[in-house]
Amino acid sequence: MEDKPFIFINCAMSIDGKISTHERRQVKISNKRDMERVDRLRASADAILVGMNTAVEDDPRLTVKSEKLRKERVERSMPENPIKVTLGRVDRLNLDSEFMTHGNARVILFASEDSDALKIEELKNSAEIFLLPGERPEPEKVVKVLASLGVRRLMIEGGGRINFEFLKAGLVDEFYVAIAPKLFGGKNAPTLADGEGFQEGKEVRLELIGEEKLDEILVLRYRVK
Ligand SMILES: NC(=O)c1ccc[n+]([C@@H]2O[C@H](COP(=O)([O-])OP(=O)(O)OC[C@H]3O[C@@H](n4cnc5c(N)ncnc54)[C@H](OP(=O)(O)O)[C@@H]3O)[C@@H](O)[C@H]2O)c1
Repeated sequence: MEDKPFIFINCAMSIDGKISTHERRQVKISNKRDMERVDRLRASADAILVGMNTAVEDDPRLTVKSEKLRKERVERSMPENPIKVTLGRVDRLNLDSEFMTHGNARVILFASEDSDALKIEELKNSAEIFLLPGERPEPEKVVKVLASLGVRRLMIEGGGRINFEFLKAGLVDEFYVAIAPKLFGGKNAPTLADGEGFQEGKEVRLELIGEEKLDEILVLRYRVK
């Protein structure tokens, strides 16, 4: 893809690769120093994308917490916060949610064809909406639109399904994983990359390019080969 943005995933997981418990709710995995690292990564991004389940159920703010980092972005002629992006059926998105309203940030929604037309009308006042064909918005199409809007660095913050879909599409350049000394277990707990999984020989190959210990959290940085 011409002018493809640089795309990186950041996620926090237990030592058994789970990004939440079997209750599939937002849980505290990382620590203060790791959250500061994530804030710096957010501040470096033009846009942050999450899957529809994460947007609706975790309702993340996805803004830059540090005032200093927000100021530095403005000095670099960037908006205070990255664009917030989600994709899928928009029906469950709440207009008053933190995702939709928190902070001074542009919101872009990639709505799948089966999204409720009335809901789309309702969301139009608060977000830019791109209606994409097919049952699920294709990652390649999403990235193309974002590139055309000037997005050069795209951060993906889960969940498991969306991480998988972007990896499968071969769009991810780097991967940060923060490993906490916890074990969640449970076959229904979401993992780093869910979906149907890769066959032997088709697995994603990574190269370790960085490691950092933030108290009890180990952060690994990989380049996708
Ligand atoms: N620890 C971490 O770093 C971290 C970060 C984020 C989330 N999480 C956790 O991850 C869990 C949520 O993960 P999840 O896997 O259930 O959901 P997800 O990846 O957040 O969202 C998946 C949804 O996105 C929509 N979608 C849009 N385009 C798609 C495509 N091309 N292919 C497939 N689906 C597409 C579908 O929703 P529709 O069917 O509604 O269209 C799908 O169900 C939560 O427990 C959350 O707490 C953890």
